[in-house]
Amino acid sequence: MNTRILVVEDEEIVRITVLDRLKNHGWVVDQATNGTDALSLVKKNNYDLIISDIRMPGIDGEKLLDEVKQFSPRTEVILITAHGNTDDALNCLKKGAADYILKPFDLDDLTLRVERLLNILTIKARCVSLENCCDQRQPLIGSSAPMQRMLNLISQVTQSDSTVLIHGESGTGKELVAAAIHYESRRADKPYIRVNCAAIPSGLLESELFGHEKGAFTGADQTSIGKFELADQGTILLDEIGDMPVVLQVKLLRVLQEQEIERVGGKNPIKIDVRVLCSTTKNLAEEVRKGKFREDLYYRLQVIPIAVPTLQERKEDILELTAYFLEKFGKERGVEFSLSGDASQALNKYPFPGNVRELRNILERVTVLAPAPQIQLWNLPMEISGIQNDLIETKESNLAAAVAVTEKKCIRSALKKTSGNKTEAAEVLGISRKNLWEKMKLYGL
Ligand SMILES: Nc1ncnc2c1ncn2[C@@H]1O[C@H](COP(=O)(O)OP(=O)(O)OP(=O)(O)O)[C@@H](O)[C@H]1O
Ligand SMILES: [Mg+2]
Repeated sequence: MNTRILVVEDEEIVRITVLDRLKNHGWVVDQATNGTDALSLVKKNNYDLIISDIRMPGIDGEKLLDEVKQFSPRTEVILITAHGNTDDALNCLKKGAADYILKPFDLDDLTLRVERLLNILTIKARCVSLENCCDQRQPLIGSSAPMQRMLNLISQVTQSDSTVLIHGESGTGKELVAAAIHYESRRADKPYIRVNCAAIPSGLLESELFGHEKGAFTGADQTSIGKFELADQGTILLDEIGDMPVVLQVKLLRVLQEQEIERVGGKNPIKIDVRVLCSTTKNLAEEVRKGKFREDLYYRLQVIPIAVPTLQERKEDILELTAYFLEKFGKERGVEFSLSGDASQALNKYPFPGNVRELRNILERVTVLAPAPQIQLWNLPMEISGIQNDLIETKESNLAAAVAVTEKKCIRSALKKTSGNKTEAAEVLGISRKNLWEKMKLYGL
């Protein structure tokens, strides 16, 4: 998890001095005396920064920079150059070096520059992570016993690096659970990367996860790093792991065992330090029986299973979640929403096959369409309120007659709900007061 730096310098005194200074700062520092050794280290380890002399026998600093940018685009390079060779240094800046330092240099100045650069890297990593999951750092709402049990389990697993398999029905909040684990772990300020295995065509998934080398396949005109490398030192969520093709499952198992990845078309494994979380709506044990999921990977992922309860299994949370969402959407619209007694009862009784996502979507729609801050039973969708169902039932086969029957029923029901208040009834029906009055006259109501 530590920052890793490589110092490349043929002059022993300079190399050792720099090495000692950086190590004293708490960074992990490796050394190489020439470009060739440096390159083989780069291919083995994941460096955040390389500090290299420009003038060296064999592969010089400039060539090293080219190779590093090719192989590991995220690694930054600072070059050291002798006085009078600033042209070389400027040339390297154009090629992507982060900075250069003139020899003889001041060690305090060097450390300051390194520190500043590493800060920028941290900010970059945070941006990647934020872009990936802007909406995910949300509280997990629910005081019910099943929810509390799950929250306890989450707080136990945050302190380890074990693989966690989160399973549950669609819309139960698996992604929120994964985000909670990451943001409560010691990796919280490192990248959090989510990959939806079901959304990426299977042919592209390997390169998406592990990256590829330039020329690995047609169209691979640049080296590209994958999500695992992006997530280095942080956490990756493999969402819908049940949809991962079997060939990739084999590779994933290796990654989990060896803690190293291989880019598509790459020749050298790359060490990574990534915590893996997986989620699935599928019953993986069943998938194993059907031969669609590898048994060895299944057991490797099962280290810590977390079952996310359905909303039906924690009905006590429905109103708490409702209050949370009404407040959230209310804030966005500048309205203080509340819920009538019969609307609460209806929500409480409804089974929510789509779980929390369904509840959330319903409340979002209702808060946009509701005519008043207090949400009434008839503002809720018909499958919850049960209202429209018996309104639309009619035996008439003639369209005009059927419309008339339905209109009459709707108007009667609206008038009943609003205790005869025509202005409110017209609002509920979505027509003008004048239109309502005309219809009431027509139907003799
Ligand atoms: N306990 C909770 N508290 C607050 N919001 C929740 C909770 N659980 C779920 N949600 C919300 O419900 C929606 C669905 O959650 P999420 O995307 O995590 O579900 P999922 O289990 O990953 O579903 P799927 O399997 O379909 O991907 C999100 O908008 C999320 O914010
Ligand atoms: Mg999901």
